[in-house]
Amino acid sequence: MIWPMNDAECPAFLELYRQAMCGSGWTLDLGVGDGRLLPGQLLDARAGWLGLDLRRRGLQRADKRARQVDFRIALHQGDAQALPYRDGAFSAVVSNGLLHHVAAPHIVLAEALRVLAPGGLALFRDLLPAELHQAPPALAKRLQTLNAMQKHVAALGFERETIRQAGPHWVWIARKPSSRS
Ligand SMILES: C[S@@+](CC[C@H](N)C(=O)[O-])C[C@H]1O[C@@H](n2cnc3c(N)ncnc32)[C@H](O)[C@@H]1O
Repeated sequence: MIWPMNDAECPAFLELYRQAMCGSGWTLDLGVGDGRLLPGQLLDARAGWLGLDLRRRGLQRADKRARQVDFRIALHQGDAQALPYRDGAFSAVVSNGLLHHVAAPHIVLAEALRVLAPGGLALFRDLLPAELHQAPPALAKRLQTLNAMQKHVAALGFERETIRQAGPHWVWIARKPSSRS
């Protein structure tokens, strides 16, 4: 699978990812994988970070990375489509490269918003279809176009423009309104 983590977009995304962790509460990372975005992004973080993934193997690697940093980290095995957390539990929900793995991306977005505190930050990113032309068909058919992603967030009450293209990716950056329950 093509996964252009070294492209020119990455520094900007990693800076956003780092900022998401600098809030006053816990950050949830959906589809954390082996935690390769850690530990560098945690240097300035103040609260805690929880990584969730469906697969145990990646979490074991993430756990090794987590042990290298002096920070409150938790790793859970679970499905991003049915989060086992209370409403409003996190000050930020971040996710990179997850949505093309799931059958129901709109459910993941809705779940992320549910567990996000009012005023909390959602930061999601994934590849646009043209970038995964070498992917297995089962994955490729789940890639979301910019338009499809904009429809998903609009259905959740956000401006379509909160989803934008950044090089080979779409990126969603939004704050949960204070009035949203
Ligand atoms: C392309 S990897 C991205 C990993 C990591 N976010 C990164 O940027 O390196 C996608 C991850 O999503 C996980 N995943 C797939 N379906 C999931 C689901 N329903 N719930 C949680 N994690 C899932 C996979 O196990 C995999 O670790």
